[in-house]
Amino acid sequence: MATLELINLSKRYGKKVWGAKDVNLKVNDGEFIVFLGPSGCGKTTTLRMIAGLEEVTEGKVIIDGKDVTYLEPRRREVSMVFQSYAVWPHMTVYDNIAFPLKLRKMSENEIDKVVKEVAEMVKIEELLNRFPSQLSGGQRQRVALARALAVKPKIFLMDEPLSNLDAKLRVKMRTELKAIHNRTGATTIFVTHDQSEAMSMADRIVIMRNGKIEQVGTPDDVYFYSANVFVAGFIGTPPTNFFEMDIVRENGKIHLKNEHIDIKASDKVQKVLENYNKDKIIVGIRPENLLITKDGENVIFREKILVVEPQGSHQVIAVELGEQIVKIVAPAFPKYFKDEIINVTLDQERLMLFDIDTEKRLEGI
Ligand SMILES: Nc1ncnc2c1ncn2[C@@H]1O[C@H](COP(=O)(O)OP(=O)(O)OP(=O)(O)O)[C@@H](O)[C@H]1O
Ligand SMILES: [Mg+2]
Repeated sequence: MATLELINLSKRYGKKVWGAKDVNLKVNDGEFIVFLGPSGCGKTTTLRMIAGLEEVTEGKVIIDGKDVTYLEPRRREVSMVFQSYAVWPHMTVYDNIAFPLKLRKMSENEIDKVVKEVAEMVKIEELLNRFPSQLSGGQRQRVALARALAVKPKIFLMDEPLSNLDAKLRVKMRTELKAIHNRTGATTIFVTHDQSEAMSMADRIVIMRNGKIEQVGTPDDVYFYSANVFVAGFIGTPPTNFFEMDIVRENGKIHLKNEHIDIKASDKVQKVLENYNKDKIIVGIRPENLLITKDGENVIFREKILVVEPQGSHQVIAVELGEQIVKIVAPAFPKYFKDEIINVTLDQERLMLFDIDTEKRLEGI
């Protein structure tokens, strides 16, 4: 078990491309950290620098207080699991797990004990005598996990280990990986571009874009207190509805307005806006914070339903405001129908306000 610190960690490929740029992060002992971000944002690059598989251009990697930036991979005591099942095809499952332990000159007895222990952990006890070609994708990925666990690393690095599995198995393996983490307590960094995977597994999520960290926080932090427009748009399905709005004063009250929507600011929102001296703002409203209402109070728009997407546990309702499709998540009942006219209000406690220029979240709400 270990702590990990990244200080201004950067990687430049060739002359111009920064795979990662000024990544700063402190990981606590035993923490489960998820790197999340769109393709090409630098997740793998950062992970490989931690593992020592990628040369660092600038910055430092510190494990347990020790600078390991220029230490060989095998002396860092980290294990990495890759997206493709990197198991050796000519060895049985048992030997796949045992091989790295043999390299460490462990005794046969010890090796046997560890192999059985990790095989039980990832539920492949029955498969130890098979060859990888006789296993399913999910089973092969478990072998790779078992092998990585067997060396008892200080830090466990996983690069999209579940992305080759079918949807159902992914969800199952998610839970199992979390359970394994609870048992081993190994400091873990897990890479994914699947936000639901990130939300369900992480102690803290690191959201990356273009080689840089956009926000670090618990799943609730990044969802409810998204630091900027990118994070608010990236986290959550259906995604956050964004509106560029004018700040208008009417009879001493502030309104947020565009061609289709009129929000009369609550006292709290009004207070936040008093410290903001521009006349335009970006408003973010999550689909579940738009509420369909029968009475006419605080209605922000009235529109005809374009499409209803039933989801069983809830309904996703789409309306069109000018050119923009706006999505609303409503409870399963009452049922709504296409072409029905609805009055929509919102929960202003959950309103997100972003600076029109910097796209950063305004403090205070
Ligand atoms: N060996 C390389 N040579 C040049 N550029 C590279 C190299 N490896 C990665 N890059 C670039 O660095 C950036 C970050 O890549 P990286 O593989 O870290 O992204 P990622 O977040 O893991 O993406 P994905 O989700 O697709 O795996 C990308 O722009 C990529 O094209
Ligand atoms: Mg990658």
